Amino acid sequence: MLFATEGSGLLPVVGWVLLGSFVFYRIAVYIQLSIARSRAAKEHGCKPPPAYPDFDPIFGLGLVLAAVKSGKKDTFLEDIWKRYQKYGNTFSSNLTGLPIITTCEPENVKTVLAVKFADFQLPPRRKAGFRDLFGNGVFTTDGSEWEHSRAMLRPNFTRTQIADLNMFEKHVNELIELIPKDGSTIDLQDLFFGMTLDSATEFLFGESANTLSGQHSSAPKGDIFGQSFDYCTGYIGKRFRVGLPTIFGNKQYTQGVKDVHTFADHYVRKGIKRYNSREKGRDGIDSPSESGRYVFLDELVKETQDPLALRSELMNILLAGRDTTASLLSVLWNTLSKRQDVWAKIQAEVETLEGRAPSFEEIKNMKYLRYTMNEVLRLYPVVPGNSRSAIRDTVIPRGGGPDGLSPVFVPKGTSVVYSVYSMHRRTDIYGPDALEFKPERWETLRPGWGYLPFNGGPRICLGQQFALTEASYATIRLMQTFKTIESRDPHPWTELLTVTCSSKYGAKVSLR
Ligand code: HEM
Repeated sequence: MLFATEGSGLLPVVGWVLLGSFVFYRIAVYIQLSIARSRAAKEHGCKPPPAYPDFDPIFGLGLVLAAVKSGKKDTFLEDIWKRYQKYGNTFSSNLTGLPIITTCEPENVKTVLAVKFADFQLPPRRKAGFRDLFGNGVFTTDGSEWEHSRAMLRPNFTRTQIADLNMFEKHVNELIELIPKDGSTIDLQDLFFGMTLDSATEFLFGESANTLSGQHSSAPKGDIFGQSFDYCTGYIGKRFRVGLPTIFGNKQYTQGVKDVHTFADHYVRKGIKRYNSREKGRDGIDSPSESGRYVFLDELVKETQDPLALRSELMNILLAGRDTTASLLSVLWNTLSKRQDVWAKIQAEVETLEGRAPSFEEIKNMKYLRYTMNEVLRLYPVVPGNSRSAIRDTVIPRGGGPDGLSPVFVPKGTSVVYSVYSMHRRTDIYGPDALEFKPERWETLRPGWGYLPFNGGPRICLGQQFALTEASYATIRLMQTFKTIESRDPHPWTELLTVTCSSKYGAKVSLR
């Protein structure tokens, strides 16, 4: 009895001593780390960047509210650009408790994406936020998992595979079929999204979704996939911009994820079936990879037949292949309808083909078309912003001190957010007419890391050539069919942000 009383008296004391020691230990570690960091910052000549004057510097609620407000007005990108003009090209802030350094400085972006690639990874919130819909794949993983996904994809994008333009011809013809020839209004954006889904599925999975032709065969409807995919990526993008997780998603999101997965699972089943038939040596199924072409899905299925792993990889590449090229085409055609001078110059280039389909080389030689696409991707980048998270203490070269020219210390766990949209509008890079749409500027312009529509460094876009070839091919064939264009959209370009960016009012035109 005496012993028990003594024991119960001792326990709280021991507890307090342990807790005290733990707190003391944490404080000591914190102080030691702060001293080490300030020494390292000094050694590298670092100075702090300006801080965004949030009314709540701990949780950054000011930025969250600002993001919500900008989102409602469709001015998220423009408001970020204005913020840079006010606080400088690099400043620090906080988003729902996460320390952030925001920058539109080419040297910083180059450092994060290439020079110090090993010091950064995808932000954990991106990985978590994208997981429901995309699982693990090239867009959501780092390290060896990412390397493996990228290595599996790369052979799909060799020059020989991209230069085979027959596939584009088929899908562009289907697109042209759906355009009224009497000049009545059509929103090309919807059609472009259908066309890029059809070509990406054929190119990467060996079977087209046939959204445009309507020949669905046994495939689930591509248009249901499209609508659900748009809703889900819109939802994820919105949450991500205000720093909130996608858990507790609403009913429409949950249903949307199911629809999108049903679509991808169709291809997974087909891929596994083809693989099993080949393994048993009785391949009665038409197999695209045996035609000598590399088909991502068929190669992947040789490595794993796990349906979930396969679905994730397919979902990741669908994000890359569908929205991006369709957005480029939509903004390009929206612009062409409003700029008769640009239309006429491209028409002149297209006429040199005398109605023939272009070859890969001929597309590459159409300079004015290329300048126009460069300019579309400059002013309306499809991926307008991005971020990386420091996985160890590191340094970026610009933004510190009152003149912004000193290096900045980036403690482990800090997110470096970069705005490609704002960088592409800098007058010190593009000149005083930076806000004007002027393809001619590309005759002499070489902005290096100041122009980044396709990212840079080891994670540079794998589909760049594929996307530019598809967009050029479609534009040339459309221009050979229609000689005049009129805009049927009174609005200036307005952002439509999901996890990528396109045009809120689409590409409403009249063609004859
Ligand atoms: C105009 C069209 C396109 C633009 C502007 C674009 C832009 C980008 C950007 C900015 C990234 C970096 C994303 C990040 O690191 O967070 C990226 C990555 C990627 N893109 Fe594209 N893209 C386009 C079209 C395509 C197409 C059509 C495909 C494939 C069919 C594709 C495949 C990829 C892949 C696989 C990655 C991931 C690279 C990696 O992390 O290793 N892209 N793209």
